[in-house]
Amino acid sequence: MSNGGGNMAVVVRKLHRAYRMGRSVLRVLRGVSFQVHRGEFVAVVGASGSGKSTLLHQIGLLDRPDKGQIVLDGEEVAAMSAAKRNAVRCRDIGFVFQFYHLLGEFNVLENVMLPAQMSRSTLGWLMRRKSRRREAMELLERLGLSDRIKHRPQELSGGERQRVAIARALINRPKVVLADEPTGNLDSRTGEQIMEVLSEFHRQGQTLLMVTHDAALAGRAERILHLHDGQLKTK
Ligand SMILES: Nc1ncnc2c1ncn2[C@@H]1O[C@H](COP(=O)(O)OP(=O)(O)OP(=O)(O)O)[C@@H](O)[C@H]1O
Ligand SMILES: [Mg+2]
Repeated sequence: MSNGGGNMAVVVRKLHRAYRMGRSVLRVLRGVSFQVHRGEFVAVVGASGSGKSTLLHQIGLLDRPDKGQIVLDGEEVAAMSAAKRNAVRCRDIGFVFQFYHLLGEFNVLENVMLPAQMSRSTLGWLMRRKSRRREAMELLERLGLSDRIKHRPQELSGGERQRVAIARALINRPKVVLADEPTGNLDSRTGEQIMEVLSEFHRQGQTLLMVTHDAALAGRAERILHLHDGQLKTK
């Protein structure tokens, strides 16, 4: 095994990320190492400011570490070309954020179909448009949103918006879903429903890496890692 990929969805080795602010350096990640098996649900908990979002941004190819290794589905990220990074980010990674990040000028169905569009050539997209639409509709139905497909995000409740974001994250059948405080902006009951939705997709085989400061939410995961002082500890 050349890079330790094997049956791992995510391998992180000795990851470092610091932010330089003027003359001071904030060392956020200081040698973070862990792995996520395919099909596993792992939660990372840590206090506000401990670097949870920073960690997800490295794994999701939204930012680059200063040092260390990230292997996604057996492939070392550092060795990828820019085009390959973009392709992997669009096709293999699903993001769910605290504040949804839906596009206000598009309706629900369009928001869900967008990643499927971005990850393909124009011609490929046109050829598969019908089946993609059907898949988006199926996902939205499973998430209880069939009667909301024409709504714009601003015409939805918070819980509905997050379910749209989950559908968008899942449309390309990503190898891993990265969720950053997915219930952080919701009341506790709606948050419970969102966690139930994520757990259900996990039971059906979806690999899931979630970061949260909420220990109760993390309790839903199969494994909990604690981020503290820039490093991970298993409790
Ligand atoms: N682009 C940046 N430039 C400078 N400092 C940053 C940047 N992004 C994050 N930080 C700092 O790095 C630290 C970790 O931030 P991060 O967003 O990863 O924390 P977090 O664990 O996700 O917190 P929260 O639970 O509040 O979302 C914080 O102290 C933050 O101020
Ligand atoms: Mg954060």
